[in-house]
Amino acid sequence: MFVTLEGIEGSGKSTLLQGLAARLESIGLAPLVTREPGGTRTGDAVRELLLGSDHEMTPLVEAFLMNASRAQLVAQRIQPALAAGRVVLSDRYADSSIAYQGYGRGLDIPMLRLLCLAATTGLEPNVTLLLDLSFEDSRARRADRSAADRFEREDAEFFERVRHGYLEMAKSGRRWHVLDATQAPDALLESAWEIVRPRVNVHA
Ligand code: TYD
Repeated sequence: MFVTLEGIEGSGKSTLLQGLAARLESIGLAPLVTREPGGTRTGDAVRELLLGSDHEMTPLVEAFLMNASRAQLVAQRIQPALAAGRVVLSDRYADSSIAYQGYGRGLDIPMLRLLCLAATTGLEPNVTLLLDLSFEDSRARRADRSAADRFEREDAEFFERVRHGYLEMAKSGRRWHVLDATQAPDALLESAWEIVRPRVNVHA
């Protein structure tokens, strides 16, 4: 069972991920919790390159690096965990590349899908929770965070395109569930748990 969280900056993915992990642990499961870009030593080194502000980088290079990190994460951690029957929770996955490098940066989406297909060897999430938030709310929540990374310095139009892209993707498939990210963290966790809980097998 593979669950991914998606959404723009400040949508509360990390808090929700921790909450879901704790709920799964409370019913006797040991989920693998991870994030992108990163999640492996190689991926973390790539993450530094991607988020550090002083690297020049074309959108295509950004897409390759995101998928390099992803390929390592899928092979080294996600596939083995799923093969062992564990639940995997990931803060972002391939849909982020379509949303940010496709809708956001304007790269060709069919080309990006092929790149993601190569990186993931076709592994798709069973459930994707989209934490939907407006740019205004995202900016307000990020106001007190200190250093902005390369993405956080993008303008309102960029994030509106990314948000729109996510909402378009969410119309396309049954694995998608759109959650209102302006809800209080507890309410958000309840909504997410209602979706995840019936889908996990507890053998105990
Ligand atoms: P991070 O600090 O993890 O942001 P967040 O807390 O919002 O998840 O930074 C990850 C950044 O990388 C985020 O701005 C989204 C971007 N990103 C892409 O552009 N494409 C991708 O494929 C992935 C995985 C992330």
